[in-house]
Amino acid sequence: MPLENRLNISNDVEVARAEERLSKTKAKKLFKSGFLDKLNTGSFQAFADIYHYLFAEIYDFTGKTRTVNISKGNFRFAPIMYLEVSLKNIEAMAQSSFDEIIEKYVEMNIAHPFSEGNGRCTRIWLDLILKKELRQVVDWSCVDKNDYLLTMERSPIKDIRN
Ligand SMILES: Nc1ncnc2c1ncn2[C@@H]1O[C@H](COP(=O)(O)OP(=O)(O)OP(=O)(O)O)[C@@H](O)[C@H]1O
Ligand SMILES: [Mg+2]
Repeated sequence: MPLENRLNISNDVEVARAEERLSKTKAKKLFKSGFLDKLNTGSFQAFADIYHYLFAEIYDFTGKTRTVNISKGNFRFAPIMYLEVSLKNIEAMAQSSFDEIIEKYVEMNIAHPFSEGNGRCTRIWLDLILKKELRQVVDWSCVDKNDYLLTMERSPIKDIRN
């Protein structure tokens, strides 16, 4: 089902293409704009601000987290009745070491605050933390998409050293 979008397109494939094109353009702008430097690294507000920057023109984004339970594969992301408290706890999680940062990233993926676009947003959010705390980032061009997805599928059970 195409997610409700602001692009006035009803064809699934067209929506997916337009969404990818627009969000990639936005992501490029985001990195050049200096916007990321102003964010409070590791906070939910930073996540929401990145999300807004990438997707506000695409989805009807009200700043509110999702109000329905969602799943991918066999995994159901955080039940909405726990979502708000979960986001508060994630924000408070330590982020000093690589293992702590990955643990925090895994929990944010499990939270999946919005209906669509969480993966892209979470990867940028993760890189901001890694950059600030460890002066390192992931070279996503070296990450095979299938391996990454398999790792994310395993991550709620085994977050470190997959
Ligand atoms: N079975 C699963 N268990 C846990 N996490 C999953 C599973 N399948 C996907 N994910 C996570 O959900 C993300 C996709 O979520 P969503 O569709 O909201 O984001 P996206 O930005 O549209 O997609 P993508 O990450 O593919 O660019 C993946 O990147 C991965 O991190
Ligand atoms: Mg998606």
